[in-house]
Amino acid sequence: MDKARGGFSSRIGFIMAAAGSAVGLGNIWGFPTQTASNGGAAFVLVYLILAFFLAYPAFMAELLIGRYGQANAVTSMQKMSRNTGQKRFAFIVGFGGIICAALILSFYGIIAGWMMSYALEPIARLVGLAQVADWLINQSLIRNLMFTILFMLLTITIIRRGVEQGIEKWSKRLMPMLIGLLILLIVYVFTLDGSKEGFVAYLNPDISRVLEPGLLISALGQAFFSLSLGTSVMVIYGSYIAKKENLVTLGAQVTLIDVSIAFLVGLLIIPAMYVAQAQGVPIFAEDGSLISGSNLVFTVLPSLFSGMGTVGLFVGFGFFVLMTIAALTSSISMLEGPVSFVVERHKIEREKATTFIGIGIFLLSVIIIVNISFMLDFVAILATQYGQPIIAMLCCVFVIGYGTEMKY
Ligand code: PFF
Repeated sequence: MDKARGGFSSRIGFIMAAAGSAVGLGNIWGFPTQTASNGGAAFVLVYLILAFFLAYPAFMAELLIGRYGQANAVTSMQKMSRNTGQKRFAFIVGFGGIICAALILSFYGIIAGWMMSYALEPIARLVGLAQVADWLINQSLIRNLMFTILFMLLTITIIRRGVEQGIEKWSKRLMPMLIGLLILLIVYVFTLDGSKEGFVAYLNPDISRVLEPGLLISALGQAFFSLSLGTSVMVIYGSYIAKKENLVTLGAQVTLIDVSIAFLVGLLIIPAMYVAQAQGVPIFAEDGSLISGSNLVFTVLPSLFSGMGTVGLFVGFGFFVLMTIAALTSSISMLEGPVSFVVERHKIEREKATTFIGIGIFLLSVIIIVNISFMLDFVAILATQYGQPIIAMLCCVFVIGYGTEMKY
């Protein structure tokens, strides 16, 4: 490891950090939502295949670029280039990824803020602050601003400490907590009436839907988003791994963890929806499909928790803390992309760079919050449906085209 620029101190440090980046709201919100709206197990099956056969190779390409360049995304790609034209192309792809990470963080931080406010709501109710509790779960400008700031401050604090003391240390603490909480919640939901029906719905694929174009595109998009591709994040994490480590195995382990956690989350959410149905909460939309998206996370599940009485307060708290942890280990990776670029290219101190970039991204979040009805979707679609796949594909072109003589 290069002492001057820092790096992960161990294999497990890298695995936890990269899996932390991969496992996020995409797994806990996106995956079950897509599963619910795309025919249950058929989607899960296609997702598993695409994740291993398309997303994993693209993930390896990004790790390899970072491992070869031992630097931020732009510098790493430029090291692979042989002439000025290629260097310019390298700049566009590397910098494009960095911008993409910043754009994703600007809307991701807002949603993560909602997770924090929903986690606090049961506590407010438990101590008798009903009005505060209502405020916490109702959309308002002030609430959105306050919780986005809070979440960004947590992200900035971790990144200011650097790779080993910040990213690695916190990923190693938070990821086991996340897995523990997830398993506890699954076991609990399984003891409730209705869960078995949900379990069957989740694991019984309707094979006729497997080749539907909409399902294929959603599964591929979900796999790319989940592995944080096309954002420079995996390039920079790849650059922090010691050269002696086996990258192919490490990459496979991270993919396996990411996919397994998404699968486990489905095992929690889909049965939980059927438990909610058993308690009288509607879980099907008018067209007969399972309710998904924000209605699932902010209406169906909270109705389920509130129907459970006092236990529901603890379950609701656990669920939204799980969401917050997942979001935090992802958001730190998004901030590391731009920070590593500014620190290495412009020789600015890490602490200063982190604070400035963090504030810049927060200001973008403020613009989104003020125009939330159209900007949230706009930025999300721009970054995840266009930016990520295009940049990820260009990274693969880079490795195939320029990397034939590379020695990793
Ligand atoms: N992989 C994260 C998730 O599934 O929620 C999202 C993400 C993290 C996207 C980091 C992009 C990124 F750079």
